[in-house]
Amino acid sequence: MNIHTYEKLWLAAAMVLIVGFIATITYGAVGPGVSMVDDDGGSIDPDAISDHERFGDTGVTHVGGNEYEVDVVAQAWSYSPGEIEVPAGSEVTFYVTSRDVTHSFSVVGTNINTMVIPGEVSQMTVEFDEPGEYGILCNEYCGQGHHNMEGKLTVVP
Ligand code: CUA
Repeated sequence: MNIHTYEKLWLAAAMVLIVGFIATITYGAVGPGVSMVDDDGGSIDPDAISDHERFGDTGVTHVGGNEYEVDVVAQAWSYSPGEIEVPAGSEVTFYVTSRDVTHSFSVVGTNINTMVIPGEVSQMTVEFDEPGEYGILCNEYCGQGHHNMEGKLTVVP
């Protein structure tokens, strides 16, 4: 093996690592039985949330097949809806926004942990392969009731 081949090998190994990292970030497992598919966003008028087609009526929507959409509004100091239920084997896209100050939408035991900023929509698609119960917490300090800001996500069999 000459030095040239050796360098090429290292280069190839480095490429594999880089591609691997990107794949991990994009498709990697984010928790037991949970994997991230997509993470994107958008904007919204925080003063017109109640009239918004998505956030005027929060909750779980079955969009077909195994696909679900969950619309969540965070506010001091609760989530609407407070309890989310989706079936195992589902691909769930969360749309989360805030009515007032910056919160977070963090699902304990997974890597689902997004800041929720007024005027912005946090969007992420996650696959839930196995049944389970997850707590939802706010990780951004948002005032007096911050520590009590929580919800529940249940993946039913
Ligand atoms: Cu909401 Cu801390």
